[in-house]
Amino acid sequence: MLNNATLAFIGSGTMAEAMIKGILNQKLLSPERIIASGPRTERGHQLEERYGVQWTTSNVQAIENADVVVLSVKPQVLPKVLPELLGKVSAQSLVLSIAAGVRIATISKGLSHEAVVRAMPNTPAQVGAGMTVWTASEQTSEEQRGQAQSILGALGEELFVGDEVYLDMATALSGTGPAYVFLFMEALIDAGVHLGFSRRISQKLVTQTVLGSALFAKQSQKHPAELRNMVTSPGGTSAEALYQLEKGGLRTVLSRSVWAAYQKTRLLGGLSDE
Ligand SMILES: NC(=O)c1ccc[n+]([C@@H]2O[C@H](COP(=O)([O-])OP(=O)(O)OC[C@H]3O[C@@H](n4cnc5c(N)ncnc54)[C@H](OP(=O)(O)O)[C@@H]3O)[C@@H](O)[C@H]2O)c1
Repeated sequence: MLNNATLAFIGSGTMAEAMIKGILNQKLLSPERIIASGPRTERGHQLEERYGVQWTTSNVQAIENADVVVLSVKPQVLPKVLPELLGKVSAQSLVLSIAAGVRIATISKGLSHEAVVRAMPNTPAQVGAGMTVWTASEQTSEEQRGQAQSILGALGEELFVGDEVYLDMATALSGTGPAYVFLFMEALIDAGVHLGFSRRISQKLVTQTVLGSALFAKQSQKHPAELRNMVTSPGGTSAEALYQLEKGGLRTVLSRSVWAAYQKTRLLGGLSDE
């Protein structure tokens, strides 16, 4: 679907590298079709050496022949980058932003450009197991949506949503989600250490249990409640542990946390509009 398009990454950090790696691994493009920009030449040399892509310190030069311009800078850097690129993105190009919380209208107005995709990836994208939710402005063509889908698919799974409101929701659920899971893992590892396991063994047990449970849930396509019932024998150890988790309000705490993250996303999105 990328049909030898030229891709420019504005901002060459962790996420840009994950995308470059995924695109090259899946052979969607050859390295010479990719150019990235950023302020630090050491970082540029690193990307050139690792992936053979082109690199420049000039954001304007990076987008010169780009069919797709990926905005992969931090959201707080965008107010500096958008004016720099204003009027310079070709009308036929697609702008794909992964900046958390920044709305399509902000990008569209800031660049005076209509074809914009906004995506919310998450950190497992760094190992090709990401979950990315994305949406597109009405002015994006079918071909451009296909390009976005291919690029984002290189990070793991992708899901198109028809309304930007779902992007804020996804930010709170899948975007922030790895933080919830890592905290849960950390707490379980500590609990294992409390029992008497070494940290190394406890971490191995917990990591594989979380990975295996996620794979089992995905592959069996059963609801987690059904899978949980399968390990909960009447009067057994799981029932005892689950009783304590419910008593401690795990569900309510999780629900409140996700809600708080959603409110914060909307607040930050609103601020970025101003
Ligand atoms: N990491 C995630 O899991 C995740 C998830 C969802 C969305 N996102 C979004 O993805 C975007 C990138 O995140 P990241 O984790 O990849 O951040 P990052 O590693 O900090 O990358 C940002 C890059 O932008 C560069 N930069 C700074 N100022 C610039 C400028 N004026 N022009 C061009 N490049 C500039 C930085 O260079 P220096 O390092 O030299 O300053 C850095 O390489 C963010 O908007 C974030 O909200 C990230």
